[in-house]
Amino acid sequence: MDKRKIPFGTISITEKAKNLVYEILETKRVSQGKYVKEFEEKFAEICGTKYAVAVSSGTDAIALALSVMYDYGAQRQDEIILPALTFIGTANAVLMAGFSPVFIDVEFETLNINPEKIEEKITKKTKAILPVHLMGKPANMYKICEIAKKYKLFLIEDAAEAHGAKYDGKNIGTFGDMGCFSTYVAHIISTIEGGIIITDNCEYAEILRSLRSHGRACKCDVCVLNTSSGYCQKRFKYGRDIRFVFERVGFSSKMNEIEAVIGLGNLEIYKEILEQRRKNFFQLKEKFEKFKEYFYTINEDKNELISPHAFPFILKDNCKFTRDQLVTYLNENGIDTRDLFSSIPTQTPGYKFLGYKEGDFPVAEYIGNNGLHIGIHQEITEEDIEYIAETIKNFLEIYG
Ligand SMILES: Cc1ncc(COP(=O)(O)O)c(C=O)c1O
Repeated sequence: MDKRKIPFGTISITEKAKNLVYEILETKRVSQGKYVKEFEEKFAEICGTKYAVAVSSGTDAIALALSVMYDYGAQRQDEIILPALTFIGTANAVLMAGFSPVFIDVEFETLNINPEKIEEKITKKTKAILPVHLMGKPANMYKICEIAKKYKLFLIEDAAEAHGAKYDGKNIGTFGDMGCFSTYVAHIISTIEGGIIITDNCEYAEILRSLRSHGRACKCDVCVLNTSSGYCQKRFKYGRDIRFVFERVGFSSKMNEIEAVIGLGNLEIYKEILEQRRKNFFQLKEKFEKFKEYFYTINEDKNELISPHAFPFILKDNCKFTRDQLVTYLNENGIDTRDLFSSIPTQTPGYKFLGYKEGDFPVAEYIGNNGLHIGIHQEITEEDIEYIAETIKNFLEIYG
């Protein structure tokens, strides 16, 4: 088989989006405006929520959603429950928002937070559960929602990798108070850099608009779009230029118009992107049946619809080869790989200060040491899938 290049991620940029980028540059109306608003409205529509608030990254989306809780009595250093294994942005967002992360081990089968271990970590300071739907595979929302309700906690979903996923027929991101998405390159819907929060709560949406703009008092759409006029009904409440009244500690996290039109282009072809990724995921999964002696991977359960971010697999402990040997072989043969993240509290140097020790999160640590993910995005073809499977087969013939 001829050598191929299989990149981990891609971004789809439609012709219409390219033309709009040109128009935006010509008119110089580049900062948050009508296209961001249109992107928010269309994103909310496909998710089936009333509101969506676009920001500059998925990490910011989570940090802002968490920060909304300060308007409802949360205190700095209150605790947020999240999985030990996820992309670092989830945990960084908790710290950025001024909260304390409380990590819970994950499950092998789903790669997601183990709901059985949540309740024992709930204290008086717990304010929210922040489940992650890693690789587009939904977390166990049935149990998580039950716990959030029982302890009256906020439920904020990190759906950064799960655009279009469903659980019990309901869209991921709509189970709790807010759902947060990343629209970074390589995600199903991309705006180059970016993130977006969905919610049905009008007040949360208003607070989010304020938070993304430094905590400004002026948070209604009219003001956001007409800041040059400085006009807002609230102006009279404060008796000063409303654009420089800050009601809360905010962020500088707006999406710009160029990012928004790339996203609008993606929304037009989003169904095709998702379909192609699902086709690739299941084709590769079928090929991996032959390798099941060596690797675990995830399954789609009957009550869910996975929106594949990538294809994850984990070396079983009976493997004679190491992850490094496999990665080197795949990379030499043109197949891009990523480790399947790491246990944030115990395998991430930047989080040493929290004082956890190796062994505290055995499943997350095992996946952190033995997991990989590879691209199955919309530009990957059936021949590419064939090539990936053939390359792994050749590797196993040498090292297996
Ligand atoms: C699970 C998860 N959470 C959060 C993020 C952060 O998103 P961003 O990189 O847009 O800040 C990512 C990014 O890919 C992610 O995969």
